[in-house]
Parts: sequence; C-alpha cells; structure tokens
Amino acid sequence: MLRTHTCGELRTEHIGQEVTLCGWVDSNRDHGRGLFIDLRDRYGITQVMVAPAAGDEQLDLARRLRSEDVVKVTGHVAARPEGTANPKLATGAIELRCTQLQLLNRSKTPPFTPGQQDLPAEDLRLKHRYLDLRREPMQRTLVLRSRIIKAMRDYFEEHNFIDVETPILGRSTPEGARDYLVPSRVHRGSFYALPQSPQLYKQIMMVAGYDRYVQVARCFRDEDLRADRQPEFTQLDLEMSFIDADDIMGMIDGLMARLAKQFLDIELKLPLPRISYDEAMTRFGHDAPDLRFGMEIVDCSDLATQCDFRAFRESVEAGGKLRGINAKGAADKYSRRVIDELTEYVKHDFGAKGLAWFRVEADGKLWSPIAKNFSESWLETLGRRMSAEPGDLMLFVSDRWEITCKSLHGLRKRLGAELRLYDPKQMHFSWVVEFPMFEFDQEENRWNAMHHPFTSPRDADFPKLETEPGSCRAKAYDLVINGYEAGGGTIRIHDSVNQQRVFNLLGIDEVQAKERFGFLLDALQYGAPPHGGIALGIDRVVMLFGGLDNIRDCIAFPKTQKAADMMTEAPGPVDAKQLRELSLRISQ
Ligand code: AMO
Repeated sequence: MLRTHTCGELRTEHIGQEVTLCGWVDSNRDHGRGLFIDLRDRYGITQVMVAPAAGDEQLDLARRLRSEDVVKVTGHVAARPEGTANPKLATGAIELRCTQLQLLNRSKTPPFTPGQQDLPAEDLRLKHRYLDLRREPMQRTLVLRSRIIKAMRDYFEEHNFIDVETPILGRSTPEGARDYLVPSRVHRGSFYALPQSPQLYKQIMMVAGYDRYVQVARCFRDEDLRADRQPEFTQLDLEMSFIDADDIMGMIDGLMARLAKQFLDIELKLPLPRISYDEAMTRFGHDAPDLRFGMEIVDCSDLATQCDFRAFRESVEAGGKLRGINAKGAADKYSRRVIDELTEYVKHDFGAKGLAWFRVEADGKLWSPIAKNFSESWLETLGRRMSAEPGDLMLFVSDRWEITCKSLHGLRKRLGAELRLYDPKQMHFSWVVEFPMFEFDQEENRWNAMHHPFTSPRDADFPKLETEPGSCRAKAYDLVINGYEAGGGTIRIHDSVNQQRVFNLLGIDEVQAKERFGFLLDALQYGAPPHGGIALGIDRVVMLFGGLDNIRDCIAFPKTQKAADMMTEAPGPVDAKQLRELSLRISQ
C-alpha cells in the first residue's frame, strides 16, 4: 500500500509516529511557519505542514501544488501549536510534519472544487461527475446507499430469502411504461426488451418452488422523468409463496423498523398505519399522501348546489365536485399576486378551470373577490364546514373529481412546504391499500390495470370482474414515505383461467396473451402456489433516508431529465457497420 493511514484517521494518540498519507490537495497556503496543505480523501482532511527544514526542493514543490493534485506525504504526526487546533475537524488537533512530499499526479484546473461553498450548476456536476463525487455530501449519500443495501440483504438472508439474478435481455413486461429495446443481431428484426421489473421471472421462481426470492434488481423504463424518477433505477424486489397481503406488509414493516433504527435512530411503531385508496383520495387527493401534516381536503359539493355562483353550481350539477383546503393562519402570508400564481399553477399543471379563495377576517367573516355572489348565511355555512378561524386562507377547486384531487394535492404539497407544516427531518411511513383493480382510460375507451395485469382482485370481487370491473378492488399495497411512493406490490393471480379473464378485460385476447405471456399461462398450469410480492425503489428509499429531494443525488451516474448521461454522452450514434449487422436503418 502507498499509504499507512487515511486522511480522516490521525488523532493525538498518533503523535510521534511516522506515517504516509495519500490524497488530493484541497488547498495550500503559505504561512509564517511554512507551507500548509489540506490533504483530502474520502475519509477526511489532514493538515500537512512543509517546514523550511524540509529543504528548498520540497518547499518549492509544495508551493507549486494546485487544487486537486494527487500527492503522497510522509512525515511525523505532531500536535498543532497551542491555539491553532481546529475543533471542527476530526483530525484538527494534529498536523503532519512533512519529511517527504511526492507528486503522484497533476490535476488540470477543475471547473469547480469539491469544497466550494456554492453548488455548481447541475450540468457541470454531471459532466465532471468524478469531481462531483469527491464532494462530501455525495460521498455521504453513496456510503448510506451501500449500507442500506447491505442492511436489506442481511435482513432477507436472515428471513431465508434466496437472492436470484434474472435476465436483463428478456421480453417486454407490462409495468405501464415504454420499453427500452435491444435489437438482436442473430434474430433479424427481433428485439429484446430491458426489464421494467423482474415481475414475471419472480413469479416463475415461485412456481419453481423457491418460496422466498429477493434481488437488488436494475429496472428500465422509458417514461417522462421527474425529480423522483430515473429511466434506469434499482428495486429491492421480492416474492413469497403461501402468504397473504398482511405477510408481505409485515415483512416490509420489519425491514423499515430495522432501517429506521439503524440509519435514523427512529423507533417505528408497528404495524405501520394503513389507509385505503378511497380514504387517501378523499382526504388528501392522492394515492401517496404526505401524512406529516393535516390540511385535509373538505368536500363542499352539497353547498355548491345551494348557491347561485355558476362556476360552483354548474360543475357540481355536471357531476363534478366542490372541494377545498384550509391553510390555517396563512391569510397574511399569501398576497393576491401569490394567489394569482397558485391559480395559474392549478390551471396550467392540472387543467383546473380556476381557483376560488376566501380569507377569514378578524370578525370571522369571509372575504373574497367573489364573496358578493353568496348570501351571508351560505358563507357562514361554508366557514363552519371548513373550520374557519380568523387569519385562515381557504382555497377551493370546483371541477371534475380527478381535477379537484390533482389540484388540491398539488396545492397541499406546495403550501405544506412553504408554511413549514412539518419538520423536514420527520419521517412518516404508511401503507395505502385496497386500490381499484382497473382504471378507465377515457381517451382509449378501455380499462387499464392500476398496478399490473398479474394482480389478484379481492376474493369477493372475482365474480364481479366482467360485470363491474370499476368496483373491483385489488390485493395491492403501496408503501408511502413522506408523500412518496417508496414501494408497491400485490398478491398475484395464480391460476391461468382467472389470469386470462383479467387479460380479456384489458383487451388482451387469448391469441395475444399466448403470444406475449404464454410461458406464464403455461407455468400457472403446472402447480403454481398462491404467491405475491413487492418492490421497493431503492433510489427513493435512499433519497428519503438521506433527507434529499432529488433522486439524481442518490445515484453515482444518473441520467438527466432527457435521459442522457452528460459524462459519457450516452446515448450516442453508432457505426453504419453496427447498424448493418443489426439489419437496422435510421429513417430521417
Ligand atoms: P412498481 O412499478 O410500483 O412495481 O415499482 C416499485 C417501486 O419502484 C420505484 N420506481 C421507480 N424509482 C425510480 N425511477 C422510476 N422510474 C421508478 N419507477 C418505479 C418506486 C415504486 O414504488 N413489479 C412491481 C412490483 C410488484 O408487484 O412486486 C413493480 O415494479 O419506488
């Protein structure tokens, strides 16, 4: 080894020892006593002093060192002179008095330095990711990620799970996103699909009798990217046989309790709370609600029909809803200009027709630019319904159910953060259960699976599959942490007849089903045990445990919003020869 210690290791007990450190020059400065170098590696920073006694050659080399040069230093550990210790640094009581300084490699002037105060632009960080990864917060997150994955693996090993790798080159699995396709050279005109998840392989493992499967699995989905979505991400994927939904949730409860204790020093109370999908949508407008704060949605649709204000009345008469939230004490924090911005936000992002608002005055009366459209008693009733108190700001959307959900969820999230209704360090874990089996796609005029097509309905809903698909509820469960969907899973259908019934409903007839999922339908006929599972988004779990708000900061080499790798410049063009071998031609 070139070094005897790391740059984060030396303490007063090492005083007097001869040691060798290697690292990057964080900074160097000339001082009265000599030249000082802050030497950095991923373990910390050690102050190195090159005294005049080291000789002109060494002094000269030290003077010419630049930020991010790589050096090797041998010397003696010494106490820092009285009054110069740095209590903020773990190695701050000592310094290394250099006897031999060696330049291992020069660095060009970096476009940013790992220690600089203000964060460089993200494009620059992604382009020079090797520099960005030298930053302490990035290192901390990657270490956290590595430890979380280790803790997950240990937990499942203790519970008798077997880690099985499944193929990356496979057939399309329907998780609802677009596939990344890989053309086959050997089979002209045929394509592999990168897995959106190992869903079907893990079900086949259950048929094969491996009753507890787990994998840290790479998944690929070509979908619109957001702060919590990457085209290539990692799941903690598992499947179990002879279990029900409570068993899967119980297994994950245990895992979350372990991780919360180990990494956040939080004792989770188990079982984690559960709310139904219907309740989540009614109270919070979203199936992954942030339960760290209240500001629940209140339905006032009945009142809409008792007033003459057309925007309210007409949308409710057309089958829509009037729903609102009450931002307690926020009236003076939101000027008309800011409320106009909120109005634009719900119109632009969610297609709402508008945003109605009322301020509660000191005398308890409701004030609004639209107040004159309502009788005093109507306003009083509205105030009571919303638990209005002086200083409150109430926001209402009157529209189709889905638009009221999306808009009020968006407003609730935004106001919750702006009004600091929760401690950012607080963590809230819960389950959302009883999802609908299907959702109706108005544009395509057909049913889609809400989770995926292998999900089992509740036992009582089997007879209603064809007659009332909209009312069937699934044996599905999502793990929600702080308003993010951290995981999702279901109990599966384990007989081929019922599986085909669900395919039929989704417009996949027997010929198509045989073509796409024949192997699954076959396998289900050779003694498939009852089974189910779940997958957690590891990147999201790390993001939440690390207190971060962007998934890119939890991944060593992430992609941009446009699914590009700024460092390697992937995706890139390929040779004409490669295209020819694959029998592909690019059409302009
Ligand atoms: P699902 O599609 O719900 O289920 O995915 C499970 C979890 O994976 C994470 N996730 C993502 N993370 C980052 N970027 C993405 N693009 C992305 N998409 C999903 C989320 C999500 O909760 N096969 C099923 C699981 C099962 O039924 O067992 C599946 O993949 O945290």
